[in-house]
Amino acid sequence: MPAADLASSPFLLAARGEPVPHTPVWFMRQAGRSLPEYRKLREGVAMLDSCMQPDLITEITLQPVRRYDVDAAIFFSDIVLPLKAVGVDLDIKPGVGPVVAQPVRTLADVAAIPDLTPEHVPYITEAVRTLVGELGSTPLIGFAGAPFTVASYLVEGGPSKEHALTKAMMYGAPDVWAALMAKIAGISAAYLRVQVEAGASAVQLFDSWAGAMAPQDYVAHVMPWSSQVLAAAGELGVPRIHFGVGTGELLDLMGQAGADVVGVDWRVPLADGIRRVGGRPVQGNLDPSLVFAPTEVMLARAAEVLDAGRAAPGHIFNLGHGVMPSTDPDQLARLTDFVHEQSRR
Ligand code: CP3
Repeated sequence: MPAADLASSPFLLAARGEPVPHTPVWFMRQAGRSLPEYRKLREGVAMLDSCMQPDLITEITLQPVRRYDVDAAIFFSDIVLPLKAVGVDLDIKPGVGPVVAQPVRTLADVAAIPDLTPEHVPYITEAVRTLVGELGSTPLIGFAGAPFTVASYLVEGGPSKEHALTKAMMYGAPDVWAALMAKIAGISAAYLRVQVEAGASAVQLFDSWAGAMAPQDYVAHVMPWSSQVLAAAGELGVPRIHFGVGTGELLDLMGQAGADVVGVDWRVPLADGIRRVGGRPVQGNLDPSLVFAPTEVMLARAAEVLDAGRAAPGHIFNLGHGVMPSTDPDQLARLTDFVHEQSRR
């Protein structure tokens, strides 16, 4: 496949704010639990084990591209995989999420976490290379967790709604916090570099839980480290998407952190999101629950998102957060077709 076809794919055009033949669409968490063919492949294989096997990574990443004909593939992995790869004792428990055996509390705990090198993740390099060959003109999105969201798992020891221990460290032990954020920023930047050097066409930095922060704390304790990762990714020459949930009050800051594209969740009307991110392309933002509505209701709301998206220099259609496990894949197929047809008019 000529490189020019990839460079002029609707996804990469939109990410650069250039004119598109149709609005590109992909779905966060498209590779995973809602697909029967995924569940079949994963039978008897632990989540993190599947993230270390190039043949499984490749097949799971390709499944939604085949099924939906989406405009981009997202690499099948997890935001905690790089920590596992450097030796942090953690697991992903089904229905729970990432669980860390010995939560990080002290400077010594931080210092004990090794930096990531490509030698830690040979299976990532191998899987990306294979995928890029298979995907041809369809871009592969690499990703990493942003320092705050990854730190929350490390400090809390597992998923958290309030992030109380994480914030306690941020406010009460700023030296430990800064060391931890610097450590994760380095690991995330190195993980993105591995994926892009192996052929990924774009990267997404997932700061899923950043919406827990007040803007002043985001600026003081979170944004500098996300900026560091985004700046490092910028040197790789690929578009950078910056995403979080519940980030209505942070969208301007997330734009300023150095992203090319800002993800908007469904709580913010897309027109407002576009104004807040300051002239950048946007990604989003259909409520992921709308797949459970009657098809015509879902599509009517998708049409509104597409209309609003025309005000941005570039619009990548997505859900406002990940695909939920009980989503009917046929609804996502209809949604993908609708976005393509409607935006060609
Ligand atoms: O399709 C894709 O988007 C690619 C794969 C992907 C996974 N995790 C696979 C996964 C991506 C991009 C992620 C990122 C991720 N992981 C984020 C950021 C994105 C977001 O949704 O906000 C976060 C916060 C995590 C941490 C994590 N991993 C959680 C909260 C969970 C859910 C736990 C559960 O089962 O409800 C996971 C597990 C996980 N990551 C699964 C998959 C397919 C489910 C595990 C399984 O199938 O057994």
